[in-house]
Amino acid sequence: MRVALYDQYGGPGVLYEGTLPKPVPRAGEVLVRVHAASVNGGELTARAGKVRLVTALMDRGFPKRTGTDFAGDVAALGAGVSRFRIGDVVWGVLARAFGSMAEFVVVPADQLARTPVGLDLVRAAALPAVGTTAITALRDKARIREGERLLVRGGAGGVGSVAVQLGRAYGAHVTALAGARHLDFVRDLGADEARDYSTTAPRDLGRFDVVLDTVGTGMADYRRLLTPTGRMVSIAFDSSRVLRSLGYLVASTAFGPRRVRFFSGNPRHDLLAELARLTESGAIRPVVARTYPLAEIAHAHRALQAGGIGGKLVITVAGSAN
Ligand SMILES: NC(=O)c1ccc[n+]([C@@H]2O[C@H](COP(=O)([O-])OP(=O)(O)OC[C@H]3O[C@@H](n4cnc5c(N)ncnc54)[C@H](OP(=O)(O)O)[C@@H]3O)[C@@H](O)[C@H]2O)c1
Repeated sequence: MRVALYDQYGGPGVLYEGTLPKPVPRAGEVLVRVHAASVNGGELTARAGKVRLVTALMDRGFPKRTGTDFAGDVAALGAGVSRFRIGDVVWGVLARAFGSMAEFVVVPADQLARTPVGLDLVRAAALPAVGTTAITALRDKARIREGERLLVRGGAGGVGSVAVQLGRAYGAHVTALAGARHLDFVRDLGADEARDYSTTAPRDLGRFDVVLDTVGTGMADYRRLLTPTGRMVSIAFDSSRVLRSLGYLVASTAFGPRRVRFFSGNPRHDLLAELARLTESGAIRPVVARTYPLAEIAHAHRALQAGGIGGKLVITVAGSAN
């Protein structure tokens, strides 16, 4: 099967389209024919070799694979899988491994769910990782409530663009911090206020009940914006200062409930089903900024790395890009 690979850590140019044997599902697993898969910020960090300890745990040698989430259809079932049938249209997130940028992936059945009714697979592929991350951050970690003030740092990015919509759906007053060219974009997503991160100092943003940080730099400056009962969730590290970021996360536990909460997503079928429900209800809509064929995976990484993308870049594996 065709698959995106890299033989060494480095810039986007290390990525290429290669071939590997088609995987075979074991008991409890499902073989999914991938139609499309989205590029996530964490995949760039992994490819660059900035989180070698983590990527080495996932998969020791080279070539390494990339891609976290996907949308496609069920091609084969391992023994004992009864929740799906061949041909079901599904989405999912690979946990603790990369590799969705491929014609086929093998996934435990309990990490798959049906895609939202009426949503095409390219748009569906834009949501699983970022959507489940936004739900976990706002619903489960911050326990956001109606009427609370939410700050989304990185509001135009993959996770941020869903978090802005979700915050609105949960009844929060949403302030999105984004690049100048995306202020209208985040307002269209439902932000009540949009502020330019290059010209707005944290102290000028006001006070918040919930801060969702998808950037990871200068976390202390954003934690200071919390109200006395406020909660901050960060999903990112400053990749040039990983140890310092980790140190701050640990030190912030001294602030008790106002510590910075961090998690690493591992969404199961119930979370993916909730994402499908929120998408079907119109609370969340995927935003595909651009699509690329699998052979152009390096171009997609280069574009996301350059920044300025509003929404998601999606790799079309089975069909042609548009
Ligand atoms: N812990 C988890 O489970 C989990 C899950 C998903 C993602 N993540 C992590 O979360 C991070 C974001 O992922 P993503 O997929 O959303 O990435 P993304 O699509 O690249 O979005 C990042 C956004 O941050 C913005 N940004 C950059 N510098 C900023 C600043 N100083 N202030 C405000 N915004 C700034 C970027 O805007 P410009 O492009 O305009 O610069 C971009 O819109 C990554 O580090 C990823 O690894 C963690």
